[in-house]
Amino acid sequence: MDNVKKTVFSGVQPTGRITLGNYLGAIRNWSPLQDEYNCLYCVVDLHSLTVTQIPAELRKNTLDLVALYIACGINPDKSALFIQSHVHEHAELCWILDTIAYIGELNRMTQFKDKSRKHADNINMGLMNYPVLMASDILLYQTDLVPIGKDQTQHLELARDLAGRFNARYSPTFVVPEGLTFKAGGSIKSLQDPTAKMSKSDPNENAVITLFDDNDAIRRKFRRAVTDCGSEVRFGEDKAAISNLLTIYSLCSGESVADAEKRFDGVGYGVFKDSVADAVISVIEPIQQQQKRLSADKSYLEGVLKQGAEQAERIARKTLDKVYRKVGLVGRIR
Ligand code: TRP
Repeated sequence: MDNVKKTVFSGVQPTGRITLGNYLGAIRNWSPLQDEYNCLYCVVDLHSLTVTQIPAELRKNTLDLVALYIACGINPDKSALFIQSHVHEHAELCWILDTIAYIGELNRMTQFKDKSRKHADNINMGLMNYPVLMASDILLYQTDLVPIGKDQTQHLELARDLAGRFNARYSPTFVVPEGLTFKAGGSIKSLQDPTAKMSKSDPNENAVITLFDDNDAIRRKFRRAVTDCGSEVRFGEDKAAISNLLTIYSLCSGESVADAEKRFDGVGYGVFKDSVADAVISVIEPIQQQQKRLSADKSYLEGVLKQGAEQAERIARKTLDKVYRKVGLVGRIR
């Protein structure tokens, strides 16, 4: 990898189905970064184990997500595309960072509190440790920039704190990373409740568009989407549901929200919703076709993953060796 360029790292969990929100808010913004930066894009399978998984499904979702990354424009010849568990340094650095992370600060994390509420029967140590593993992902690669959704800013803040704490206690070791957030895409809301984020764990499937939905399902979900009082297609605080649909339309069609308001002036909600569905389908359908093609080509995916893990490991190994030395572990003679 090029030493002059800055490093970008990001990841998505192979849990459930990737939503339109994940795509517009995260993955879609990754491919344009590949020329300017050294990019590492990771499928964070170890994170997924913090909630109960069906092993065969986790394995399938992981490979589907790898294929989806490529279908979304991640070029394995430009970026390191890999699976987190293939590079064992992630788990090892996590242990070291655990020794400088405070229980108090992890206990205060919003996502930990939310997930503890949702999975009250399985509040495991991994769930609490989730942000430290995420910090390890980022810090292992001396990452400068982390593209993330708004809901991850607290976790990034922890990664910055841990990097600073380690650097202060031992000596400068880690780059302190910055977040890279993307405007509108980061805040796609549920189609059934425009005050809530569109989330893949939403039990109401009408609330969520996933990148694996077929065209009929997409049309049906938009038809069933909740709307606001009145009948005007207008962006505004009093129009949370329509504003969300306008945002989706604008991001998928490339037309500005203001132009879309003009286009749909006076047409009513029904026609508008069908147009939103069409715009979304025009984005998702080609990705799905490409994803399916890639998923069927196992040997290609294996080659990509082998190369990605090797590239990632080289960098990770260097950082971890440094960390082990600094904390006083005796290096192994080989
Ligand atoms: N926690 C992130 C999410 O749910 C996923 C993630 C794990 C991540 N490790 C990361 C994102 C490192 C960016 C960088 O969205």
